[in-house]
Amino acid sequence: MMAVFSGFSKLDRDQRISYLIGHSNLKDAGRRLFDEYLAGDECQQQLLSDMIENYITNFPTPMGVVTNMLVNGEMLVVPFVTEESSVVAAASKAAKFWATRGGFKATVVSMTKKGQVHFTWNGEKKKLNDLFPSLKDNFLVTTASETEKMRKRGGGITEIVLLDKTSEMDDYFQVDVSFETADAMGANFINSCLESMASCLQKSPALNSDDGRVEVIFCVLSNYTPDCKVVCQAECPIEELKGWSEKMSAPSFAAKFKKAVDIAQFDMHRAVTHNKGIMNGVDAVLLATGNDLRATSAAAHAFASRDGSYKGLSGVSLTATNFRFELMMPLAIGTIGGITGVHPMVKNSLAMLNEPDAGQLMKIAAASGLATNFAAIASLITTGIQEGHMKMHRSNILSQLHTSQAEREYILEQTNGITVSHAVIEKMIHEMREKR
Ligand code: MEV
Repeated sequence: MMAVFSGFSKLDRDQRISYLIGHSNLKDAGRRLFDEYLAGDECQQQLLSDMIENYITNFPTPMGVVTNMLVNGEMLVVPFVTEESSVVAAASKAAKFWATRGGFKATVVSMTKKGQVHFTWNGEKKKLNDLFPSLKDNFLVTTASETEKMRKRGGGITEIVLLDKTSEMDDYFQVDVSFETADAMGANFINSCLESMASCLQKSPALNSDDGRVEVIFCVLSNYTPDCKVVCQAECPIEELKGWSEKMSAPSFAAKFKKAVDIAQFDMHRAVTHNKGIMNGVDAVLLATGNDLRATSAAAHAFASRDGSYKGLSGVSLTATNFRFELMMPLAIGTIGGITGVHPMVKNSLAMLNEPDAGQLMKIAAASGLATNFAAIASLITTGIQEGHMKMHRSNILSQLHTSQAEREYILEQTNGITVSHAVIEKMIHEMREKR
């Protein structure tokens, strides 16, 4: 067992790796691999190593592109960063289909984000309520220097309210603040403003006297962003869905598709997987564009349970002749700030997307989520997902087994259209090599 270690962050990278080799199963070959994954360019390497503490190396994840993504009339090639084989292929298939049917139409509903100062006040409620209008003015004056740049970009603080939460916890109140953060995700901006407000509360002589005292418990942005959301839809005549199934008519495909999506409205086991299929596309775009997908995932899943039970985020509506697939989800993301200006690859991704603003990126990410969701449901109700998954998975297995080009071609040909396990492929290669 490793002993408790102090000062690891003070070691240089080589010393950290030596420590790991000395105290875990990591071998010298591990060090070579860590070295191989360093960026070739010294400047880029410096940026990456400065991003986190206890840095040892870079961890590559494949980046691919989804072609034919028509979003609000703009044809895009969308960067996807994902370790999951088949996600890019699935999104591309759906994107191509929808590109010839008007594409994805997306709208940003609103971009408001929130944060709270959580505090207790043990005096008379009336006193706090009476003081709040002047406290609010004070908050705005105190945060003026922080909000100045943001106000110039069309953002800033839009609302400050006092929430009485004493029924939840003794003496507990919140200053609930709404923000517009323009093209930034805005976490640092929001947190700085909240900390200034918290300090105002703590320093207020009127709230810290013999009549009562304020204790700030903490203040932070909320990653629940139901008012920073986007809707995205794709629709076509039902007849046009005929290519998706060899065995079903287009109306049967549409009806079965709707049933599959509806199940996620009442069955939580299914809903979580359904939404995972959406996040396959959304997260791949957010990773490629340097956004915080822990925050957006937490928000998406909380939003999925906003009425008390967890549900699928997308829905289907059918008329006698029309199929419409729609997604609504919160997406608090940015195209400036955070690591967007730092990570070398993020700049490429944003350039590939023609430098979108935050709202445009919300639409592109939602369209990508709808695309992966559509592809997943289409294969689930027809061939099953293993066919597509195994095709890509086979390729991973072949890479793991260090196959030659000839071996690879032979195995792919022999296993075309069938689902084979790692063990079967390994056996086939073994036999091939034996024969030789
Ligand atoms: C796999 O990554 C995602 C799916 O399971 C999503 C779904 O079931 O809808 C295929």
